[in-house]
Amino acid sequence: MKKIFALFFIAFPAMVMANSGAHLDHAPIDLTDNASLQRGAKSFAKYCMGCHGAEYMRYNRIARDLGMTEAEVTESMIFTRDKDGERTKPGALMKVAMDGDFAKAAFGTKVPGLTVIARARGADWLYTYLRTFYQDDSRPTGMNNIAFPKVGMPNVLWELQGIQKAVFETETDHEGNAKEVFEKMELVKPGTMSPEEYDAFAADLVNFLVYMGEPVQLERKSLGVYVLAFLFFFAIVAYMLKKEYWKDVH
Ligand code: HEC
Repeated sequence: MKKIFALFFIAFPAMVMANSGAHLDHAPIDLTDNASLQRGAKSFAKYCMGCHGAEYMRYNRIARDLGMTEAEVTESMIFTRDKDGERTKPGALMKVAMDGDFAKAAFGTKVPGLTVIARARGADWLYTYLRTFYQDDSRPTGMNNIAFPKVGMPNVLWELQGIQKAVFETETDHEGNAKEVFEKMELVKPGTMSPEEYDAFAADLVNFLVYMGEPVQLERKSLGVYVLAFLFFFAIVAYMLKKEYWKDVH
């Protein structure tokens, strides 16, 4: 049994790392930062929902969780219309307007829903992904990505970030095989944001995606503090009771 446990702990980090070959940058996310979550939600609606849905999430849940009014959410996040031509209601699921067959024809692949993408990929991966699109003329979109090589998604944020070129270094491993290793990015055309502003923008977006992957974590984490505080005080009460009950026994 011990050996099985030992094996698990040795293999576990390796399994996690095997997930992606590329080095991932640490995502500076903070789920208690409501302003950041709100900015992320609005950016998500503006820049991502043309192609991606979040079909397990409702707009009004976001309003409630992040402290926005339904009117504010409707104004800043809902750009689709129902079949009858009315603006989609805040109680609706966050479906994408584009239909699946069109997406397949346009991008050669299905466009995945992003409700739980943060749980599938992790925050660091998403943060790296959104910041490592680079120019590559061999790709149909003219862009490639360090975290997701040969990705089918165009770099929809290039106007904000600018256009980057990736610098690769050739490394030879101990068997003498040459390998291209990513070294750094060079900005060939600046965007409307500075690199620092763009990183902050990406962090807000990832923050929102992490929240959306598990909305109750906001409550769970604040509830956890109360639960621990209760257990602590209850332990004192229980100890005092125990002393009271046993005081005549000795
Ligand atoms: C023009 C359409 C379009 C827009 C806009 C768009 N994407 Fe994508 N996205 C795609 C397509 C197509 C894929 C599938 C790529 C593939 O599988 O090669 C994709 C894939 C992804 C993936 C990887 C999913 C996986 O399989 O793990 C993530 C994450 C993602 N998009 C995030 C975003 C975010 C965040 C935004 C908003 C900033 C966004 N996308 C905007 C088209 C788009």
